[in-house]
Amino acid sequence: MGAGVLRAVRPLVRKGGVLQWGRHSIEALAEEHGTPLYIYDGDRVLERLRTVRDAFAEVDPLVAYSVKANANLALLRLLAGAGCGADIVSGGELYRVRKAGFPAGRVVFAGVGKSAAEMREGIRAGIRAFHVESAGELEALGGVAGEAGRSAPVAVRVNPDVEAATHEFTRTGHAAAKFGVAPEEAVALYRRIAAHPHLHAVGVDVHIGSQVRSSEPFLRALEVVLDVAGAAERESGTRIGYIDLGGGFGIAGPAAEELDLAALGRAVARRLRGRGLSLVVEPGRFLVGDAGALATRVLYVKRSGGITFVVADAGMTELIRPSHYGGRHEIVPVREAGRGRVERVDVVGPVCEQGDFLARDRDLSLPAPGALLCVLQAGAYGFAMASNYNSRLRPAEVLLRGDRAELVRRREKYADLTRNECT
Ligand SMILES: Cc1ncc(COP(=O)(O)O)c(C=O)c1O
Repeated sequence: MGAGVLRAVRPLVRKGGVLQWGRHSIEALAEEHGTPLYIYDGDRVLERLRTVRDAFAEVDPLVAYSVKANANLALLRLLAGAGCGADIVSGGELYRVRKAGFPAGRVVFAGVGKSAAEMREGIRAGIRAFHVESAGELEALGGVAGEAGRSAPVAVRVNPDVEAATHEFTRTGHAAAKFGVAPEEAVALYRRIAAHPHLHAVGVDVHIGSQVRSSEPFLRALEVVLDVAGAAERESGTRIGYIDLGGGFGIAGPAAEELDLAALGRAVARRLRGRGLSLVVEPGRFLVGDAGALATRVLYVKRSGGITFVVADAGMTELIRPSHYGGRHEIVPVREAGRGRVERVDVVGPVCEQGDFLARDRDLSLPAPGALLCVLQAGAYGFAMASNYNSRLRPAEVLLRGDRAELVRRREKYADLTRNECT
């Protein structure tokens, strides 16, 4: 297993050759709740939140958890209770964060395609800001706010044309991305906001991508955003209250250490000092990624065309990151005693797609059918991207807190599959 990942997933221990999550037996959890099973460590999530707060302590940021990473209500309640804010991208996420108890004043709403209904819901709730991503959206928001007799708080999302070294699907800050607007256009939008009776500017927003492990692109984006804030204030008499630096703080990988968040925090604080600006950050994966694992049971081992396939009961329907983004997740046998000799294998799921796999060309001690495997760093964009494709049932989720293990989402039943069908 990659050294970076092993260090990152600290609660994992082997006792008598059997993998445990802290004090919790993964085998017992899998036995009780069945597999595939998502396991989250709430204490670890809170520890990660402290890491973010410590890194940016000098500027005392609003940490707005990026709900899309993992929207489980119990996790959201945990984060709301710890004073977190929320970064949302849909009316559905707004519904969840309100249900979880996030104060609306700590909620920011991003996304290139907000509908009028979603804008109405955000205005009615009294959210902190709409992160606006186009001139058309700004017009629409002004109209919706006018109908409601309110003024909508806005931060324009700037596309800084900064290329982050990450997968092309998780890169969002280069000019050709669909996200944000160019800096000159952003300044023009602040002029429109200043002149609009139902819009007011509160901040400037940027998000350059996900799994970014170097400070440098964040700091380049920050310079662009500071320029936009300065120009908006000069040209429109606007008062910019905060800079939102987005999320994307990279976690450890098999051959890579996580982003040095403390160094980034120091550099950001240096640039913001004396400017009267507060800071918002939007981590998703950094808070929940390595606090979660997916337990899956081996169904069969088959050999075909020179490849050894380990067929597990979890696949792309439970964790799509490997097939969608080339995401690499370490896969560890839970019971060492059951481990066979190391072979190069593909770990695949039961879904009827050749692209359904959890790992390819992976050296793994060959497990026997029935063996449990643990897929690591699956807390972010795991269950959140799960689907019912092939009419598969989405798995159960368990939240660990200290000695307690609480079922926080039941495994779906067949009746759930057809619940909304009208015939
Ligand atoms: C606007 C915005 N903020 C924050 C995030 C969170 O990214 P990450 O989970 O990599 O921290 C995303 C992810 O797509 C995003 O689009």
